[in-house]
Amino acid sequence: MDITSFISKKASPISYATSWEAPSNIALVKYWGKYGEQLPKNPSLSFTLSNSSTNTNVVFTPHSKSIPDFDFYFHNVQKEDFKPKIAIFLERIHSYIPWIGNYHLSIKSENYFPHSSGIASSASSMAALSLCLMDLEQQLFPEMTSLYFHQKASFLARLGSGSASRSIQGPVTIWGTNEIQNTSSDLYAIPFGESLHPVFKTYQDTILLIDKGSKQVSSSTGHNLMHAHPFAENRFLQATNHLSSLLSIMKSGELDDFIRIVELEALSLHAMMMTSSPYFILMQPNTLAVIQKVWTYRESTSIPLCFTLDAGANIHLLYPKEYKDVILEFINKELAFFCENGQYLTDEVGLGAKKM
Ligand code: PMV
Repeated sequence: MDITSFISKKASPISYATSWEAPSNIALVKYWGKYGEQLPKNPSLSFTLSNSSTNTNVVFTPHSKSIPDFDFYFHNVQKEDFKPKIAIFLERIHSYIPWIGNYHLSIKSENYFPHSSGIASSASSMAALSLCLMDLEQQLFPEMTSLYFHQKASFLARLGSGSASRSIQGPVTIWGTNEIQNTSSDLYAIPFGESLHPVFKTYQDTILLIDKGSKQVSSSTGHNLMHAHPFAENRFLQATNHLSSLLSIMKSGELDDFIRIVELEALSLHAMMMTSSPYFILMQPNTLAVIQKVWTYRESTSIPLCFTLDAGANIHLLYPKEYKDVILEFINKELAFFCENGQYLTDEVGLGAKKM
């Protein structure tokens, strides 16, 4: 699908209200570096999560201005500081959904994971908002197919936050053109499809909250630093190769290879941060302490527990569901100590966003 197919027509306004819940996702192959209008320099692949999600309600009221305006409530409190990001998003998507100019939007959003937990909510919140917009577009143009609905929701979400493109469907999604999966696109994410090995359909993600503060370096600053990064081209190549290996691992369920690639991806992402100019480190001493513990545990038990990281200090522990009880015991005994206030979140792979 090319970009022009995502430009819709104008339509007479209607009054409408809708609510969507969209999940967060955790990348196994990381997107780090972009070009043009939020397009990725390398393909990425992620697990869609289940519990860590955002619920957004939008009331669309027709108005006679030609640009959209909105108010925004977060947990029922009007939030002025979140508005600039939404305003930029609406401006970016205006040319793809020109009918939006006819509306005032009242947006109410809630996160189902602790705010200020160091867990990025931009993916789930941009996905939920994009789905509300697509829901209205579907009312305006009822001939729309379900395929187009999902692709354009992912396309719009991407314009809010790149990784949000992967928060529409589940349980595994791929974003970015690559040679193996030729239906992939830089414009939107697609689901992995039927051939996913059963072990990954119920994979667990326990998120250790090592540092609940907000990040010192935003991901947009990090992405921009890849432009002049001395290792950028090799990193994009590495990620592309990891994606092609992971695409067959997602079918075979081969966990040793899965672990090797997932941990290498996490450390490569942070290696890029540490070798940017200016350089920065988002891991904390407790992040490293947990990684060592995970390695020792895996070595001594042969249980396929591994970690990944996003752009922060928190650790995502990934493992098959059959080991849930023993791993939670290990976390409580040996890892909770390294978390801020002993806190962690239990999550698992999920099926994607839903209309409420
Ligand atoms: O979507 P952004 O711009 O916040 O970037 C996300 C970057 C990582 O979370 C580090 C990796 C990824 O692919 O999700």
